[in-house]
Amino acid sequence: MNGQPDASPLLAVEGLQTHFTTRAGIVRAVDGVSFSIAPGGVLGLVGESGSGKSMTAYSIMRLVDAPGRIVAGRILFKGHDLLTLGAEPMRRLRGDRIAMIFQDPMMTLNPVLRIDTQMTEAIHAHRSVSREQALEEARAALDRVGIPSPAQRLRSYPHQFSGGMRQRVAIAIAMLNKPDLIICDEPTTALDVTTQAQILGEMQALCHESGAALLWITHDLAVVAGLADHLCVMRNGRIVESGTTESVLLDPQHAYTRQLLDATPSRHRPGERLSAQPALGEGGNG
Ligand SMILES: Nc1ncnc2c1ncn2[C@@H]1O[C@H](COP(=O)(O)OP(=O)(O)OP(=O)(O)O)[C@@H](O)[C@H]1O
Ligand SMILES: [Mg+2]
Repeated sequence: MNGQPDASPLLAVEGLQTHFTTRAGIVRAVDGVSFSIAPGGVLGLVGESGSGKSMTAYSIMRLVDAPGRIVAGRILFKGHDLLTLGAEPMRRLRGDRIAMIFQDPMMTLNPVLRIDTQMTEAIHAHRSVSREQALEEARAALDRVGIPSPAQRLRSYPHQFSGGMRQRVAIAIAMLNKPDLIICDEPTTALDVTTQAQILGEMQALCHESGAALLWITHDLAVVAGLADHLCVMRNGRIVESGTTESVLLDPQHAYTRQLLDATPSRHRPGERLSAQPALGEGGNG
């Protein structure tokens, strides 16, 4: 290993376990996950459906609902364990120092409120600035994510935007308070390929500009390959492989990573058949 010492990560997840107690028994959705993200770093968390990616994200945000429960581990954000934080300080952190963007932008947006109301509320929840200043920040944020005529669009409702534009609004809201960490849970999965690529590029530029670190969750290795500096490959609630993006892509150590790579369309010629993934839940972690 010749990686430089990890001086002080922005986020360090250590031995995280999030379990669901169901009638059929305990589901170990997250089963001892550890990783860290440097300030301004971009980590791609990759894995098939059901591998525990979203539950890892929800755990970091402390948004796991019953019957789910974080049963072990530490989530150190700037050295402080979020799992020991009270509900109120945690609420203040969310949307301020840590923001999350979901696959469905309507998880962020309120369908019955105009965008200007939602954006100024998001600012005023964390900062006391004048209404004029909040509106100007909101307009500038829409402009930055590539929404045309932002001043007019502020007066629209979410349903008046296309899917891609709605996701851009959600991204603008996430960036409003200049968070140190943005967690993106498959934010481009529901969009067409062109919009997906545009938003990916924009997110990259925005984070670079603001210095925000990014945790990008996806089932698609190709999506994160050009974005992340480090990758964690997740399966059955565990990280089975991690390292720099280059090392994981060029020299995958784990059979499951190789399967994910083989199933990545961009590595194949048009018309070539993709190799199938093994059925979910099959096999162990080793
Ligand atoms: N409410 C629940 N009750 C029981 N098990 C749950 C519940 N919610 C999630 N799980 C389980 O937790 C595991 C991890 O789910 P998670 O949503 O984190 O997967 P994921 O990797 O995000 O998948 P996807 O790519 O489909 O979004 C799954 O096996 C799922 O069945
Ligand atoms: Mg998910």
